[in-house]
Amino acid sequence: MNSSVAVENARQLAVERVERLSEADLADLAEATDAAIIEGGGFGWVEPQGRAALERHFRGVLLVPERELFVARLDGHVVGSALLVRPPRNNEAQAFAATLTHAYIAPYARGHGLARLMVRKVEERAAALGHRVINLDVRETQTTAISLFENLGYQHWGTHPFYARVAGQTVAGRYYMKTLEPGRGRSTGTLIDGAG
Ligand SMILES: CC(C)(COP(=O)(O)OP(=O)(O)OC[C@H]1O[C@@H](n2cnc3c(N)ncnc32)[C@H](O)[C@@H]1OP(=O)(O)O)[C@@H](O)C(=O)NCCC(=O)NCCS
Repeated sequence: MNSSVAVENARQLAVERVERLSEADLADLAEATDAAIIEGGGFGWVEPQGRAALERHFRGVLLVPERELFVARLDGHVVGSALLVRPPRNNEAQAFAATLTHAYIAPYARGHGLARLMVRKVEERAAALGHRVINLDVRETQTTAISLFENLGYQHWGTHPFYARVAGQTVAGRYYMKTLEPGRGRSTGTLIDGAG
């Protein structure tokens, strides 16, 4: 028992925002993504895509200015990812809000706290960029993700009854928001509640 805890404690957990990925990281990321899709998905894809298509996908993600890619590593290997999506420049009215999407950890790396760490890192980055609100949505069947987000303080504000189609079934989706404190300037509470 003690030795398994020691081994567990010795696992290296890390989350980083990436602007480029090595070939080895891309291969690990494609493998983690397909493994998570095969296990049940819950973050967009329904069918496994294969390594070549996923590598093209992630190379494309890295080119989009409004998308920031975060990867989770277990013992140095990429085992999951998440996207922070910023509003486009022409959406000044919603510049204060960003979206967390496409978050998953491969089944073989779950339960170590990586998703929690990844969400925290995305929140820190969004706050550092000046965003005051983070939005996300999740299929109502993703109960682990729902506990994760609710434990991290996300507020469920609505449910879309026709959110996704998976294996011929319509699945509802839950919409969440969380306010962020930027670390300087007016607090988000006063900004949102204030008449200005
Ligand atoms: C949701 C998901 C990202 C969690 O990844 P993870 O790295 O295993 O999660 P963590 O180890 O960081 O656990 C974080 C929290 O999730 C919840 N959680 C984790 N495993 C759980 C389980 N088996 N049952 C219930 N809740 C669980 C807990 O609230 C946990 O917090 P705690 O450790 O303080 O109790 C992962 O299960 C996954 O990829 N699911 C499929 C994709 C998905 O649903 N993505 C979200 C939609 S965008």
